[in-house]
Amino acid sequence: MPLLERSAWYDIARDTNWTPKYVEVDELFPPDQSDPYGIPVAEWETFDEPYKVSYREYVSVQREKDAGAYSVKAALARSSYYEDADPAYLSMLKLHYGAIALSEYAACQSDARMTRFSKAPGMRNMATFGMLDELRHGQIQLYFPHQLVSLDRQFDWAHQAHHSKNWAAIAGRHALDDVMMTRDSVTTSIMLNFAFETGLTNIQMIGLSADAANMGDFTFSNLITSIQSDEARHAQIGTPVLEIMVRNGRKAEAQQAVDIAFWRIHRIFAILTGIPMDYWIPLEKRDRSFKEYMTEFVGEQFERQLLDLGLERPWYWDIFLEDVGTHHHCQAAATWAWRNTLWWNPTGNVGPRERAWLEEKYPGWNDTFGKAWDVIIDNLVEGRTERTLPETLPIVCNMSQIPICAIPGNGWNVKDWPLEYEGRLYHFNSEIDRWVFEQEPERYRGHMTLVDRFLAGHILPPDLGGALAYMSLQPGEMGDDAHGYAWVDAYRETRRAAE
Ligand SMILES: [Fe+2]
Ligand SMILES: [Fe+2]
Repeated sequence: MPLLERSAWYDIARDTNWTPKYVEVDELFPPDQSDPYGIPVAEWETFDEPYKVSYREYVSVQREKDAGAYSVKAALARSSYYEDADPAYLSMLKLHYGAIALSEYAACQSDARMTRFSKAPGMRNMATFGMLDELRHGQIQLYFPHQLVSLDRQFDWAHQAHHSKNWAAIAGRHALDDVMMTRDSVTTSIMLNFAFETGLTNIQMIGLSADAANMGDFTFSNLITSIQSDEARHAQIGTPVLEIMVRNGRKAEAQQAVDIAFWRIHRIFAILTGIPMDYWIPLEKRDRSFKEYMTEFVGEQFERQLLDLGLERPWYWDIFLEDVGTHHHCQAAATWAWRNTLWWNPTGNVGPRERAWLEEKYPGWNDTFGKAWDVIIDNLVEGRTERTLPETLPIVCNMSQIPICAIPGNGWNVKDWPLEYEGRLYHFNSEIDRWVFEQEPERYRGHMTLVDRFLAGHILPPDLGGALAYMSLQPGEMGDDAHGYAWVDAYRETRRAAE
């Protein structure tokens, strides 16, 4: 049977809007789900996705992608790669799978909202594929690490992390609930498809898959590349949405949505990606520094895309460019210090060679972040490991839900950005986190951070042990230094030689 070229029928096939006779338009497309900006339907009908695909093509390409990723996994299933892998690399996998697998599944709802409620037929069509993509990403990232569950209990924990009251899981959910789960379909698309997926997933996907390939983990590297190829398509939903917003006098609202989402997800990725890249991956296997990735793959590309669309850089752009060189260093030391609250084993891994690399990539590292590690190293060399463990909880940001911290040592700039709202005092890690809160206080005001819950008596006994029980972390699951502090040996030897 002869088939028409796709271009001959595509535009007609997705021209699926009609004029409702039995219900009002606002009943079919409730504004708070479909479009609170009141843009005319005729404008939404101009939505023209840059990447066009038919259902027949979609399922055939997706089948090939799955076959590729699953056959690499099957081929390598008998290798003992994971049994012999560097424990810090395994921590990267535990963190990744715990944070990402069910977030992908949650993103099905975001795409489903666009599929049902968007007034743009082309967007509904694309979002249907996006929804199927995210279902695949959820399934494949639950299935692949399942073989690792028998390796140690932390991999089991990674499977349940998303449903837990662990602080890192709360931080992830708070950001994703805000960006993906609780907004109308237009704002969701701007925040998720554009700010998150177009702006930031490259760093997670391309950076991590390069590091994984260098580590010889071709199963994970292929998996990530396979997922990224879907993201690259459905992320494009955001571009025509923004064009329509800008053309219809809604540039300010679009800009605000971009600015909120980009910052919120950046702060999560600083922990999720920044720390493994610059601390856990062995020196000779590192592809680029986190800052180099963020500057080249995120900063420059995202800036160009924003300007092409007639938008501006986020107002905090200069702070962001500074932040990619600092914040993950703060969190590397902070999360290592609170390692028993994690479901993965971080490694300090700041031996003399690693410090030289950090100093080269981040001039001034030794004088700032290095000073905090000096104290830790002194304690470990002297056998006072207990002094490197926390006795209570850190102050947590009321927006990012991660510990409030900043540059230590000679660059000391640790400060709180407080705000009093309706009689309650909130604490923020940066002026940007506080600005996000101020944009819509009623959205955020009721949430209690882990520390708020601690102070309100929800966590008993009110000590670190109570907090660990609240987070359901049992002995054997709590994090410890991935290398058993072996990276401190070099300092011990230098000091012994000097004596
Ligand atoms: Fe995805
Ligand atoms: Fe996605």
